[in-house]
Formats: sequence, C-alpha cells, structure tokens
Amino acid sequence: MQTVIVRELALEFVRVTEAGALACGRLMGMGDKEACDDAAVKAMRAALETVDIDGTVVIGEGEMDEAPMLYIGEKVGTGRGPKVDVAVDPLEGTTVLSKGLPRSMTVIAVAEEGCLFHAPDMYMEKLAVGPKARGVIDLDAPMEDNLKRIAKCLGKNVSDLVVVILDRPRNESLIASVRKAGARIKLIPDGDLSPAVAVAFEDSGVDVLAGIGGAPEGVLAAAALRCVGGEMQARLWPTSSSEVERAKSMGIQDIRRKLLMDDLVKGDDVIFAATGVTDGELLDGVRYIGPIAKTHSLVMRGTTGTIRFIRAVHRLDKKPRYVNVRESGTP
Ligand code: FBP
Repeated sequence: MQTVIVRELALEFVRVTEAGALACGRLMGMGDKEACDDAAVKAMRAALETVDIDGTVVIGEGEMDEAPMLYIGEKVGTGRGPKVDVAVDPLEGTTVLSKGLPRSMTVIAVAEEGCLFHAPDMYMEKLAVGPKARGVIDLDAPMEDNLKRIAKCLGKNVSDLVVVILDRPRNESLIASVRKAGARIKLIPDGDLSPAVAVAFEDSGVDVLAGIGGAPEGVLAAAALRCVGGEMQARLWPTSSSEVERAKSMGIQDIRRKLLMDDLVKGDDVIFAATGVTDGELLDGVRYIGPIAKTHSLVMRGTTGTIRFIRAVHRLDKKPRYVNVRESGTP
C-alpha cells in the first residue's frame, strides 16, 4: 500500500505533543487559560519546525488575522517531507488546565493532503464509538436505538454503558433521552476530545461520546478513531448566520449534512498523537519532579492500526527550546 506518511513520523509527532504538554503543564491551576494555550502553541510550533513534512494547518488556532501561530493555512514543517494536512489542538481543555481539572491534552493529527475535513470553528453534533460498535450507529436514529445496538455489540446491557456528554444546556434533551434509555452518564464540564478517543479502549470506562461540542475537536477525534477502526458520525451545528456563511466560504454548501467517517477523515493514511497535560480517561498528566518531567502519550497510525502508549522521562535542562525551565529547579 502506498503511504505518504511514513512510520518514522509517528515519533516526531509525539515529540511535538510532548513539547506542548511540558510547556503548558507548568501553568496548571494558575487561572490563566490564555497563558496555558500560548505556552502550548509556542512549544508545539517550535517542535513542528523540525519535522520533515510539507504541512498545511487545516484545523488550528483560528484564522490568520486572529492567531499569530498555527493559524489555518499556515505552512508547518521543514517543507522537505510529504504534503500533509495538519489538524492541531495545542491545548484541548484550556479552561480545565487553568483550573487543574482533568482531561486536558495536547493533540495533533496529520493526514495526506486533502484528507481531513476543514471544519469551521463552530459546534458539531457528535456520536462516537469504538471498533466493536462500528457500523451500527446512526446520528439520526433515536438515542435509545443507538444505545441498544451499541450495547449488543459490546456484549453489555444498556444499563452497563457509560455515555460521556458535555454538560451544556444545548445537550439537555440528549441527556434526558440517555437517562430514559437507562444508560449511565458522565457529564463533563469541558474536554470532549479525550473521551471521544477513549471510547476505542475497552478499559477506559467510557463506551460512547455523544452530544454537541466543538467541530475542530470532532475532526481530531475522527482521526483518532480512524486509526483504531472506531466510528464517529457528526453534523455541524451553527448558532448564527455568520457561521453558516463562514461554512459556505469554506466550501460547505449543505451545512446540516450528516458527516460520516469518509467525510471527516479520508483513508487510513493518518497519524494521531496526544500527550496528557492533566489526568484523563486515557492519559496521565505531566509530572514535574525537580530537574525531570514525565509525560504519557498516545500515538496511533491508521495504515497499520498500531497503537503506542509512550511514557517518557525528560531532562528539562536539556530542552531549553521547548520548555520554560525557569521554575523547574532541583528538589
Ligand atoms: P478549550 O480547549 O477551548 O477550552 O475547549 C474545550 C472544549 O470543552 C472542547 O472539548 C469542546 O468540544 C468545546 O470546548 C465545547 O465548547 P463550549 O465550551 O463552548 O461548549
């Protein structure tokens, strides 16, 4: 099979997400979400500069005029490698990190050029499951029916299932229908990307991700699920006419179209990498121990389906470019 994204790049992308996590993890609980995001963006941007790809950011920090780095359309990488689409969420969960709550992580997904859905920065309705329940979900079907089908595939009762939903008024009717169906629910304050990936892992304690959250996070989740054979269905959920116009200007004519896996991520030539910043369902957060720091990352490659969890120990004094070592000190 002809692949553009060679396997060696997997470790390179982990270096990128590790750099982001090491930089922003220091700011946990400081109450400054902009500073958290800024630290992750700068570190990931610097790390990306060294990676041999000819990349274009298709999901990033915003438009060129609103984001100085990792903006949509920005070229990243050395320019010497394959032409790729880059979707990046330098810090998924800015608010949660600023409060020291669970589920923040640094994330990147890379696919062959033209293969990632160019999602506008708006909301998206999502339904995501792991590989065992692939092929049985339907975003348009009643939630009760979806849950019955998912439970059957997983060899569970509906009452055993754990459905993760962002705790937002816009998800109220969904929450009511999941309750009526009898499944268990984990309402989260923020950070729906981590559980959307976790559904693919049986021991994560999460079976389904459902509800309306961010569209960029949706595409990143779809990239992760593509690597492991899971499934996500989605639909953009605009809240204003300007968002509808924005989608049209990006070539999306039918904004309410149901988006299937091939719409979100075409083909298997994709790599997904993430590093935990605070503890989540899948990844532990960064631990700083005097002159060293420990990270926990996940990297997956769609072509082979290989999933790697990587625990790394970093010598902070040797990483001045990516890490603010001012406060690392020694015990
Ligand atoms: P940030 O990283 O910008 O804080 O966003 C995190 C997040 O909770 C996502 O996980 C989720 O998809 C989205 O925001 C939900 O948006 P909103 O907070 O506007 O409901």
